[in-house]
Amino acid sequence: MAIHETEERNGKLRTVMKLEPGERVALCRCMRSKEFPFCDGTHKQLEGKTGPVIIEALQQAVEEE
Ligand code: FES
Repeated sequence: MAIHETEERNGKLRTVMKLEPGERVALCRCMRSKEFPFCDGTHKQLEGKTGPVIIEALQQAVEEE
């Protein structure tokens, strides 16, 4: 399950999220979700094309060459 924490830094709020390998989350970018930072589907009631940001954690680390 995604773990997230919101903190204020330099007067701005920022959220740090940690995912388990293979975990998938939908993050709100319409700023209307009641479950922020997660998408709750509210964007479907709005005009425009804005939808969620989908984040998928890899099953395992990718090794760099
Ligand atoms: S509720 Fe905001 S993107 Fe879905």
